[in-house]
Amino acid sequence: MTTRIIATGASVPEQIITNDDIAKVVETSDEWITQRTGIKQRHISAGENTSHFAIETAKKLIERANVNPEDIELIIVASVTPDYGTPSLGCMVQKAIGASKAVAFDITAACSGFMFALSVADKYIQTGVYSNAIVIGAETLSKIVDWSDRTTCVLFGDGAGGAYVEKSEKEGIIKEEIGSKGEIYEILTQGYTPCANAFNDNESGVDPLWYVNMNGREVFKFATKSVVKSIDRVMENAGVTQEDIKYIVPHQANIRIVDVISNKLKIPKEKFYMNMDRFGNTSSASVPMALNELNEKGLIERGDKIILTGFGGGMTWGTMLITW
Ligand code: UT7
Repeated sequence: MTTRIIATGASVPEQIITNDDIAKVVETSDEWITQRTGIKQRHISAGENTSHFAIETAKKLIERANVNPEDIELIIVASVTPDYGTPSLGCMVQKAIGASKAVAFDITAACSGFMFALSVADKYIQTGVYSNAIVIGAETLSKIVDWSDRTTCVLFGDGAGGAYVEKSEKEGIIKEEIGSKGEIYEILTQGYTPCANAFNDNESGVDPLWYVNMNGREVFKFATKSVVKSIDRVMENAGVTQEDIKYIVPHQANIRIVDVISNKLKIPKEKFYMNMDRFGNTSSASVPMALNELNEKGLIERGDKIILTGFGGGMTWGTMLITW
């Protein structure tokens, strides 16, 4: 018995912001952004919040999987940019699609969020607690980047992606691992809220650490090391080699990170599915958005083996080998 992806879906804002558009806001250029990251444009919200994209994705999943919302048992949304501290995005999705019998919650593992959420859903299904789940990664990163900081604002985009998964007798998720390295959490942070109250001297207001703060080079090093090791371990534990893998769907952060991973693992770059040129880094939405595109383009067939892999703040990583 496995957990199998039955349907995928995604939703992005209509508004497209090119590198040239960003060069009007901060001192940068299309050339710098393209060469250093591989990103050419990103979709940026014109006011819709994260729940909008999560809900649109969930509606597509219900329609494509042809399931009754009343039969959905579990909804997990991964996000670092929820609309509220509470309620969770999961509960907002539950209401919008009418999944009244589901249990819904959010998890946070930054850009590895979808991998963590899918891993949790898989465990609930494997242990027989639930038999199906909607798993979504959704972000509106445009609301948490400092638009005067050229070292971060050029990287990110908005959107959501997700999967409807079910208990199945056929092959689905074969092997997976998720991991954390909290000791280096300070290299990538966002959303710091100072403890200000009526009984201490702390001032309230937006702390500069509210915005995305990143040591790009350290994150780069962490990403290449952790993802290479993680893919290697998962393939070894599953007894497969790169010849058995049709596609690797990596977190869409930077084309140069994928170059390094491809070289170190000696896996041809063509096997890595990339769409960061059009969407930028959408954090927890990036892997499911890319997977959905791969699926919509008909590039994968049932029976193909693919690897999903992500890394992000925490620091965290997650890799999953699945039979499509
Ligand atoms: O989802 C997880 C999120 N994060 C990541 O995956 C990020 C991983 N890291 C990276 O992708 C890369 O480190 C970056 C793309 C963030 C930066 O690339 P880099 O090659 O590591 O550049 P750098 O930070 O070493 O900066 C090189 C130069 C600096 O100028 P000087 O000191 O050499 O004069 C920067 O000030 O480039 C400058 N720079 C820029 N110039 C034009 C930094 N950002 C920009 C910019 N436009 N947007």
